[in-house]
Amino acid sequence: MKTRAAILQGVGKEWEITELDLDPPRAGEVLLRFVAAGLCHSDDHLRTGDIPVRYPIVGGHEGAGVVEQVGEGVTRLAPGDHVVCSFIPSCGHCRFCARGLTNLCDLGALFVDNCLPDGTFRFHSGGADLGQMCLLGTFSQWSTVSEHSCVKVGDDLPLEVAALVGCGVPTGWGTAVNAGGVRPGDTVVVYGIGGVGINAVQGAAFAGARYVIAVDPLAGKREAAERLGATHSAATAEQAQRLATDLTEGVGADAALVTVGVVTEDVIGAAFAAIRKQGTVVVTGLAGPGKNTIQLPSFELTLFEKRLQGALFGGCNPFDDIPRMLDLYRSGHLKLDELVTSRYRLDEVNQGYADMLDGKNIRGVILHEH
Ligand SMILES: NC(=O)c1ccc[n+]([C@@H]2O[C@H](COP(=O)([O-])OP(=O)(O)OC[C@H]3O[C@@H](n4cnc5c(N)ncnc54)[C@H](O)[C@@H]3O)[C@@H](O)[C@H]2O)c1
Ligand SMILES: [Zn+2]
Ligand SMILES: [Zn+2]
Repeated sequence: MKTRAAILQGVGKEWEITELDLDPPRAGEVLLRFVAAGLCHSDDHLRTGDIPVRYPIVGGHEGAGVVEQVGEGVTRLAPGDHVVCSFIPSCGHCRFCARGLTNLCDLGALFVDNCLPDGTFRFHSGGADLGQMCLLGTFSQWSTVSEHSCVKVGDDLPLEVAALVGCGVPTGWGTAVNAGGVRPGDTVVVYGIGGVGINAVQGAAFAGARYVIAVDPLAGKREAAERLGATHSAATAEQAQRLATDLTEGVGADAALVTVGVVTEDVIGAAFAAIRKQGTVVVTGLAGPGKNTIQLPSFELTLFEKRLQGALFGGCNPFDDIPRMLDLYRSGHLKLDELVTSRYRLDEVNQGYADMLDGKNIRGVILHEH
């Protein structure tokens, strides 16, 4: 079949809207009609080269839609089902899945070529194969994906907000609750209030943090954070450091969560300085693989037993946490409607990313037309 999609041809190129050929699902795969796709910063890393992948690639790894067709052997999903795509596929059988660490599933090894688990491609154009970001390609009207990427959800949920629970929401939430280990009474600093950081704020607040300090140079971001659970905000890391020190009477923050768009040595250094003895810095934001973005005094690491923790998908388990977060949305404990600040047509994807980089959105969402 034919589908319209936003693709990248290489580093430094703009998103191009083009018509592609899409293969039907093979064994263990499903054909999806995407309804909504979130504009996560990680797709912009494909454009800048901060995430190295094979090109050309169909963009988009945050999305929700409807199952149109199922391949051989798929029994868990049926046409008409609503699904959220987890940007992390989870096979259920590799050693990491078997340990319950499904965010570290070995299928993640495919994130370079972005082919499907059998090693072949479903998108084609003029004889060329195209990968699909995180095995998904949510910037396409239709896509053929592995069933391991699909979490069935209730059809009462607006797919526009359900889409965000495929990446930004669990990534941010889990950054606070899982990787950061936030506990009642804690003081937490969150650096960078985008689609990920705003959910770190929500997660920290829900976990019972006494103080949540949101750091972002943009006033609109700080205001959004204060509406969704931050008790304080700061325009700079220095201000945040002073707040964390004052609020804890000199002890320091229990956790400092780094969710900025592009991670730098400076922000990690600031987070490390802001935490208390045995406090935790969580690094969720990305920077190019060739950059050494961590330069820290091991003196403090050792003598104050400070901790540094990376986090993929916030340490969440897609098949457990995605339904759980949607339940929290239904009960009003987790705000999702408030996160969608702009809606775009597929052919406005470059504008959507320009707006993200200008800091105009918490999350922009593409609504597909069919
Ligand atoms: N580890 C994972 O599993 C995972 C998953 C999704 C996204 N990410 C990464 O998380 C990061 C955030 O993604 P997003 O979609 O929320 O991005 P975004 O662009 O929507 O938001 C980033 C925010 O950081 C702010 N910022 C930039 N520099 C700052 C600084 N020095 N101090 C404070 N704030 C600063 C910006 O003003 C912006 O509000 C990206 O690097 C993305 O690739 C990681
Ligand atoms: Zn993402
Ligand atoms: Zn696995």
